[in-house]
Amino acid sequence: MESSHTLLAAALLRLHLFLIIIVTARAKVPAIIVFGDSSVDAGNNNQVPTIARSNFRPYGRDFDGGKPTGRFCNGRLATDFISEAFGLRPLVPAYLDPAYNISDFAVGVTFASAGTGYDNATSDVLGVIPLWRELEYYKDYQRRLRAYLGDWKAIDTLTNALYIISIGTNDFLENYYSFPLRRTQYTVGAYQEFLLGIARNFIVNLHSLGARKISLGGLPPMGCMPLERAQNLANGNDCMETYNIVAMRFNAKLYDLVMKLNKEIPGLQLVFSNPFYILLQIITNPSLYGFEVSERACCATGTFEMGYTCSEISLFTCTNATKYVFWDAFHPTQQTNRMVAEHVVKTALSNFL
Ligand SMILES: *[C@@H]1O[C@H](CO)[C@@H](O)[C@H](O)[C@H]1NC(C)=O
Ligand SMILES: *[C@@H]1O[C@H](CO)[C@@H](O)[C@H](O)[C@H]1NC(C)=O
Ligand SMILES: *[C@@H]1O[C@H](CO)[C@@H](O)[C@H](O)[C@H]1NC(C)=O
Repeated sequence: MESSHTLLAAALLRLHLFLIIIVTARAKVPAIIVFGDSSVDAGNNNQVPTIARSNFRPYGRDFDGGKPTGRFCNGRLATDFISEAFGLRPLVPAYLDPAYNISDFAVGVTFASAGTGYDNATSDVLGVIPLWRELEYYKDYQRRLRAYLGDWKAIDTLTNALYIISIGTNDFLENYYSFPLRRTQYTVGAYQEFLLGIARNFIVNLHSLGARKISLGGLPPMGCMPLERAQNLANGNDCMETYNIVAMRFNAKLYDLVMKLNKEIPGLQLVFSNPFYILLQIITNPSLYGFEVSERACCATGTFEMGYTCSEISLFTCTNATKYVFWDAFHPTQQTNRMVAEHVVKTALSNFL
């Protein structure tokens, strides 16, 4: 009798734990929490002494109210669209933006910094926020969230939030291929392994701080950015094949890392969000997606300008950015961001919806 009670109790406990696991796995995403570079920075760099800024016109000209927030875009970023797709706000605000407070950040926040990378040497180039400090800001955010929501509600938010990591392009283009330091230390393959080690540590740390649902972003076809094409004179301003191949190889390694970490860490729900092929399709066949121009950007001459060189006084800036795949020489337009977001929501992120 005694033992059958014990057995029943144990069975109920197991059932209860099982239900908790199911409920946790299916719980709605209460917040979007973002780490990365200019692809997902909504204005953190406005508070950092760096030239990697975009808080002036014509940036943001198609944003709500035409405000140049510090997003490297004419409008919204992919993470803004993802937040909306999850039934949250249409914008993910920057943690350092004084216009927002913890009541906003409780449903979405980005710690991203334009110009940064996995590698500390990358963030050093333009004096922006290194990835490890983005995680320090996240710890600070956790404290503020607990104070604001109370422990239980805060833990629920932090556990069920969708974490998005979008970073890595600058490690290659702004650092490895632009300065000799890393090239003298690493072959490009070895440099990828170095970056993967940092990515792995970052995810392990994020998990140990409570994150469960994490999206690791792949690299875009970075050889097709107008800035890189403009330098490819020998090949008629075609995409830089070398850079696209590096992006594909690195993405394959990121994908392997995702598979490995899911096996190693119980409870982790890590997915790989790959923007490479959808972007390459848009770039090579723009008219199929409603675009007219993909080889040049909208801003100024569309070949090299970004940040301060993408200035309002340029007479060349296009009038309708919706027809362009790229907004400045390094960053997609809002229309492209919308399509990439729709793609990753339908693919990698669909399990979290
Ligand atoms: C956040 O800001 C809003 C107005 O912008 C204000 O109403 C609210 O009290 C603030 N919340 C906190 C927790 O500071
Ligand atoms: C980057 O810098 C931080 C702070 O100095 C340090 O803790 C970390 O180990 C560095 N990362 C690498 C990969 O060297
Ligand atoms: C801008 O271009 C898009 C796509 O071609 C078109 O749908 C839209 O009407 C244009 N907007 C203006 C103001 O001309």
